[in-house]
Amino acid sequence: MARYEINGGNRLEGTVTISGAKNAAVAILPAALLVEGKCRVENVPDISDVRILLDILSDLGAQVEVEPDGVVVLDCTNIRSTHPNPELVRQMRASYYLMGALLSRFHKANVALPGGCNFASRPIDQHIKGFVALGADVEETEDYVNLTPGPYGLQGNRVSLDVVSVGATMNIIMAACLLPGQTVIENAAKEPHIVDLANFLNTMGAHISGAGTDTVKIRGVEKLVGGTYAIIPDQIEAGTYMAAVAAAGGNVLVQNVIPKHMDCITSKLQEMGARIINYDDSIRIISEGKLKHTTVKTRPYPGFPTDMQAQICVCMTVAQGISRLTESVYETRFFGYCTELASMGADILINGKTAIVSGRGDLTGADVRAHDLRAGAALVIAGLVAKGITRIDNIHFIERGYERMIEKLTSLGVDIKVIEE
Ligand code: EPU
Repeated sequence: MARYEINGGNRLEGTVTISGAKNAAVAILPAALLVEGKCRVENVPDISDVRILLDILSDLGAQVEVEPDGVVVLDCTNIRSTHPNPELVRQMRASYYLMGALLSRFHKANVALPGGCNFASRPIDQHIKGFVALGADVEETEDYVNLTPGPYGLQGNRVSLDVVSVGATMNIIMAACLLPGQTVIENAAKEPHIVDLANFLNTMGAHISGAGTDTVKIRGVEKLVGGTYAIIPDQIEAGTYMAAVAAAGGNVLVQNVIPKHMDCITSKLQEMGARIINYDDSIRIISEGKLKHTTVKTRPYPGFPTDMQAQICVCMTVAQGISRLTESVYETRFFGYCTELASMGADILINGKTAIVSGRGDLTGADVRAHDLRAGAALVIAGLVAKGITRIDNIHFIERGYERMIEKLTSLGVDIKVIEE
């Protein structure tokens, strides 16, 4: 078992380079199943979720070559099965994208229900609603989804989502790509990774318009062919390093970012007292570590991301005054880390969807446990700020989504190491 050990209190100084976006990569790699030919995907983060997906694809018959510097070359021309290895599928959340991709290309899919971070109830009814609208027969058991063509065959259709769902939007985009006719997704999610998936598929020959708005249109094509595509930088990884600098103090150039994607996070950190300068593809953040209280409500993009809830909460614990943090995407997400932060001296009162955080200016090192990916990232930030030693258990959650975090933080002057036990 490995843990992170952090000796807190150092300022962060230097440059950090942001990796490719996890939540784009975990959609784009399964989307390669739609393509007959070689896809060269660049800026792929080396994280455990990506490694699991590549194992799944390879097991299905894809040719997978991992090259240096985040390049993955995939050839899914000769796929032999539409039944991905259930043990691997259950190790991550985004394996649900295999359903849409296999259904579109092979008109059938038999996929185990996904696993992944378990911080809330995470239904996939909207994905299923989309597949049914496209003409699929869906047989759901306790742990499997089996998709086959319904009596009228598979074809494009109109789907209006009942909730704004990133996963359902991307899964329906994939499912519709190779079906005859036009699909229109209404009330679609607008996250940058949805635009990235659409750009990837369009590069391979798909006809998708409106990605990034709440209406996405997909005109089915007969075939997608290979090409080269580079994944966008990770908005949440960048936001995590920015929150770390804001809370611990320092002066860091965060490079390989799209500043527009960061607007909502940037403006909150500025409101809390950090100085932020945007350049074309980098952001400088300067903080004395003395933050002011604020109010944050998480929302789908372009709102403040739920995946930054835990990290901004740490900033609130060390800010002066009382902050309010309201979660509107996953109500139970606070439980993954607030108790752990409390053991480090944080004063957080949870009242339904809102956490009331009384800032105390500092935290104290403690032995804590990551319960999910972003909760784990928040505990790392807390450890940087805290006086003394913080040890974090369950770091496999963090490694699911942050590439080379130890190396990146060490280069910024943080005293952090992995302890193998
Ligand atoms: N929802 C439904 N039915 C569905 C799908 C979603 O009710 O069929 C609800 C969810 O319960 C939630 C809301 O809709 O309340 C939004 O869920 P969404 O489908 O957007 O989430 P997701 O696709 O399962 C992705 C990211 C999450 C991120 C959310 C929200 C991936 C693999 N995961 O999850 O990322 O929190 O969107 O932005 O893309 C993370 O990176 O740490 C992470 C958890």
